[in-house]
Amino acid sequence: MRIIRTIAEIRAAVRDAKRRGQTVGLVPTMGAFHAGHLSLMQQARANNDLVVVSLFVNPTQFGANEDLSSYPRDEERDAALGAAEDVDILFAPEPAEIYPEGFTTTIHIAGITDMLDGASRGAHHFDGVATVVAKLFGIVAPDVAYFGQKDAQQVLVVRRLARDLNLDVRIEACPIVREADGLAMSSRNVYLDADARRQAAALNRALDAAQALADAGERDGAALEAAARAVLADAGITPEYLELRSAEDLQPVARLDGDALLAVAARVGAARLIDNHILHSTS
Ligand code: PAF
Repeated sequence: MRIIRTIAEIRAAVRDAKRRGQTVGLVPTMGAFHAGHLSLMQQARANNDLVVVSLFVNPTQFGANEDLSSYPRDEERDAALGAAEDVDILFAPEPAEIYPEGFTTTIHIAGITDMLDGASRGAHHFDGVATVVAKLFGIVAPDVAYFGQKDAQQVLVVRRLARDLNLDVRIEACPIVREADGLAMSSRNVYLDADARRQAAALNRALDAAQALADAGERDGAALEAAARAVLADAGITPEYLELRSAEDLQPVARLDGDALLAVAARVGAARLIDNHILHSTS
């Protein structure tokens, strides 16, 4: 696995691969790899000739009071894990390579970024995500890019970005990978102490409770949300949001008819965690 730090070098490597007729898969990451990241790499490896993983802790998607400075960073460990997944290139640029002096462009995707994490974290968050992902697509020119479904809103934002800007890339959303007790894998789980770690498992249990109620025939969105909230309350968790939304455009869903996204964000101990399930109505 090559580690590349400059745009000129990654462009040359991709150009060379494409000249030979190879397909290129990109896994954009901020590092601190866990099994969720590895599953994206495995998916990319299975379906592409050249697999590029980007490792860049993107400053523009963090708010002033968020965890940019403490975000877990261990490039050596990440490089070893990437190499073990047979990744071809780890693209790990310095911030100045991505945001050089005088950089002034921001991509804002209206509508779907105003709610859920966009409302909780502020508009800068998805502006930062959209801008850096557009840059990575411009730099790497992948055929396919892989994102985790844990960040369900991010997946929709990236799909809209690609659609609205006619970017020639296919977006693949890969299933959430969970710990044995159901906690969704996240780089931020390292912030959890033992008590918070136990408490955090309630997020997935809460989403399960809503699905169980849906399986029992409940269709009322508020009732499904209430079932999930009750599990969180039992665990002493007050969510930042817990909402049933359209899985396509994140509009509120009053009645479950088909599939809908039940998304949650909550502070648990020192971590801010997000999770979601796609709820199904079975009849
Ligand atoms: O999901 C992430 O790790 C980041 O938001 C991404 C997509 C790499 C952009 O910085």
